[in-house]
Amino acid sequence: MRTLVVYYSLTGHTKGLAERIAGECDAEIERIKDAKDRSGAWARFSSGREALFNRRAVIGQTEKDPAQYDLVILGTPVWAWTMSSPMRTYLTQNASSLDRVAFFCTEGGAGGGRAFRHMSDLISKRPVATLEVTATDLKTGADKDKLKQFVSAIAGLSDPD
Ligand SMILES: Cc1cc2nc3c(=O)[nH]c(=O)nc-3n(C[C@H](O)[C@H](O)[C@H](O)COP(=O)(O)O)c2cc1C
Repeated sequence: MRTLVVYYSLTGHTKGLAERIAGECDAEIERIKDAKDRSGAWARFSSGREALFNRRAVIGQTEKDPAQYDLVILGTPVWAWTMSSPMRTYLTQNASSLDRVAFFCTEGGAGGGRAFRHMSDLISKRPVATLEVTATDLKTGADKDKLKQFVSAIAGLSDPD
């Protein structure tokens, strides 16, 4: 099964998880590049506002065509109890090229379920599997079991027709 992991990450947590998922699923990987400098407290605050008000960020041209893959696994940090604005842009731009999808997110502690619902609504596709990892999961190692379950749900998918 040709699998692509597409992720956005500001501070590295989602990137780390994306790389682990790609390794476990033997997938190709693409990072969404954000055009905005989000360092500093004001930039963080305005990033939260962007997410809260469903605004899209300006992102760089992506290299891989998601339509060429049997499964696209999409990952984002949770911002303001929803997806990050760069992920919103990617999904908006690629909605028609996405068929079978799975979602993952990292978060401080809350909002992943809501983020997944918004992602699903945006592209009108239900994920075949989801993975929500909190900061506590990363600290305690609970992320390992969650990742294992996510990967085994994906491994159990049948090949597309
Ligand atoms: C602008 C902004 C908004 C955030 N909003 C939430 C939130 O609503 N819920 C939550 O649990 N964590 C929230 N966080 C924390 C991030 O989701 C968390 O640190 C995540 O792991 C960051 O992923 P990254 O390192 O890949 O950027 C927020 C972080 C930022 C920068």
